Amino acid sequence: MRKVYLIGIGAGDPEHLTVQAINRLNEVDVFFLLDKGDAKKDLVDARRAILERYVERPGYRVVQAVDADRDRAPADYVATVAEWHHRRADLYERMFRDELADDAVGGVLCWGDPTLYDNTIAVIEQVKRRGTVPFDYTVVPGISSVSALAARHRTSVNQIGRPVQITTGRRLAAEGFPDGVDDVVVMLDAQCAFTGLDDPGIDIYWGAYLGTPDEITLAGPLAEVAERIPPLRAQARARKGWIMDTYLLRRRTP
Ligand SMILES: C[S@@+](CC[C@H](N)C(=O)[O-])C[C@H]1O[C@@H](n2cnc3c(N)ncnc32)[C@H](O)[C@@H]1O
Repeated sequence: MRKVYLIGIGAGDPEHLTVQAINRLNEVDVFFLLDKGDAKKDLVDARRAILERYVERPGYRVVQAVDADRDRAPADYVATVAEWHHRRADLYERMFRDELADDAVGGVLCWGDPTLYDNTIAVIEQVKRRGTVPFDYTVVPGISSVSALAARHRTSVNQIGRPVQITTGRRLAAEGFPDGVDDVVVMLDAQCAFTGLDDPGIDIYWGAYLGTPDEITLAGPLAEVAERIPPLRAQARARKGWIMDTYLLRRRTP
């Protein structure tokens, strides 16, 4: 039966790859890459560079397909994302059927850790449940952008014995700083939702392009640094054509 590895490749630094990830990469016959358009060509290039650096086994193939796109500001977010998953599942189903022999091993390179804000597991599970192409799959964890952020700022994501919440910019903007936690990690925030918080007791630890040569970090009291981040972010995004940033908001506790 076909076997597929969903391999976490870390958040941008090729040295994020674990020994387990490198060992699995070297078992793969066909790698499946999704092309997200010219602006995000760097992300495909980063994956190809990882293969060139770590795969010693000759004769592997790379199959690249144009990724399914989605509306970034939909009226119905849940329905739009479900439909996007469905179209991505169609893509993988077709690639596994047409490009992966019955006894071959496939590989999908997942940014950061596939278990965190990444739809690959859900999409591949959907393909498996369809039952049209028999295969089994294994998830190989990776270093997430959250780990990379905390390590870069030489902090942990939680305070002693306290919970931490990981959420999206969309939710932070809609709901504000969540109740019951002192630490909030925010991902997928194109709108700088932290600028809507007005609380002098919060610190921010921000990082963009973590682990890459373009990495930018900034930290300090939110009231002092919040207004510096949006222009910095906009300039970086204009220069590179894309940006990925993450931040930790920490309520200072006595
Ligand atoms: C679709 S999620 C994927 C997260 C990924 N699975 C992980 O483990 O980090 C994309 C979001 O992850 C964050 N992210 C990923 N890589 C990053 C990096 N190198 N620097 C900063 N943030 C990053 C950003 O918040 C971005 O919007």
